[in-house]
Amino acid sequence: MNRRTTRTLAAALSLTAALAISGCSSDKDGEAGSDGPAITVSGAFMPEPVNDKMAGGFMVIKNGSGTADKLTAVTSPLSDDVQIHETKNQKMQQVPSMDLPAGGELELRRGGDHIMFMGLKNKPKVGDKITVELRFEKAAPVKVELDVKERTHNPQNQTSH
Ligand code: CU
Repeated sequence: MNRRTTRTLAAALSLTAALAISGCSSDKDGEAGSDGPAITVSGAFMPEPVNDKMAGGFMVIKNGSGTADKLTAVTSPLSDDVQIHETKNQKMQQVPSMDLPAGGELELRRGGDHIMFMGLKNKPKVGDKITVELRFEKAAPVKVELDVKERTHNPQNQTSH
């Protein structure tokens, strides 16, 4: 195998990995136009925070409607300052909103986009549940409970879904 083939193979492999990750979500249920719940949330969790200064929140938000929407704000009894963060070049920064494409999803995951709770009113422990309310540009607000998990918890490391 020459070097060129190896590189092509490596590129193909990383592409496959990327497809595998997004593949979980590629099933489109042709429900466009129905009046069912437009927004559904799955896998919501918070890794047990190290201290009461900040905590991260992760989940997958699906937009079952045929209309593009945006996540514009998050509120929670845990913090008066819940922010929406994106990660660029391994640095996170606050953004005013995040796109939620029509029939698509917004994946909040470790190392990527996430919710950030600043100045916690208490320090959650594994097993606790944190209530948040997600606000959208168009859809009605959605209440979600985040399970507090071990600090190292990362669903993407698990092969089963
Ligand atoms: Cu952050």
